[in-house]
Amino acid sequence: MAIEDVIVAIAMEAEAKPFIDHLGLKKDESFFPPHTPFVAFTGTHNQCKVTVVFNGKDTVYNTGVDNVGTVPASIATFLALNKMTSEAPDKEHLLINAGTCGGFKRKGAEIGDVFLTTAVANHDRRIPIPDFVPLGIGKLETVNATKMAEAFSYKTGVCTTGNSLDKTEKDDELMLANDASVKDMEAAAIAWSCKLHNVPFLGVKVVTDIVDGGVPTQDEFLENLQSASKSLQGALPKVLDYVCGKTHSEL
Ligand code: ADE
Repeated sequence: MAIEDVIVAIAMEAEAKPFIDHLGLKKDESFFPPHTPFVAFTGTHNQCKVTVVFNGKDTVYNTGVDNVGTVPASIATFLALNKMTSEAPDKEHLLINAGTCGGFKRKGAEIGDVFLTTAVANHDRRIPIPDFVPLGIGKLETVNATKMAEAFSYKTGVCTTGNSLDKTEKDDELMLANDASVKDMEAAAIAWSCKLHNVPFLGVKVVTDIVDGGVPTQDEFLENLQSASKSLQGALPKVLDYVCGKTHSEL
């Protein structure tokens, strides 16, 4: 069946807004429960219903910054997927998680590169009890988008997720074991919500910093955030045009 209902989940408002404006989407005030910080914009594009969701601003710790990390991402996408699949159970759905990431130079990543995920896993969920290890790592295959990657000359690879922008030596060990090409703070959590709803997941990640490059992540991230966001804004409309109306096996 052809994909006709797409959620685009983005953690940071500044990354979501240009795409929302580009598509001319309208804010849906009743999409999320009113006590949540999450925000949804909806509309149609070609044959597809498109819903862009972002995680809103923090009001719990009074910082006012974007709600980054796995907890807001998994809850916002769970609510969105629950609504999407119950309102249109017969439609073919896809969730695209778009945003910035760190890239590994050992896997060929460079600043500004667009990566499509092949799988996701966690690198900060260490549970050294044998039966729990696979749950902690939480590795999930994602949509096979090799044809799209070839069509647009995007790179592909595993996205490893953790709740920190920087990393520890232990993270390094687990990110290597995950065979990660890119590192983010949401993908594995969102893919978990997708799995519960049987909705395919695709990560579209743009590199702001090189994880194995020796420069402090926060400095490189802030330096490249604007140019990487431009790269994301170039990629997202192309990805949406490509997936709408295609079957999953055509991606
Ligand atoms: N987003 C952008 N760069 C990142 C990094 N190095 N780790 C996690 N999330 C990121």
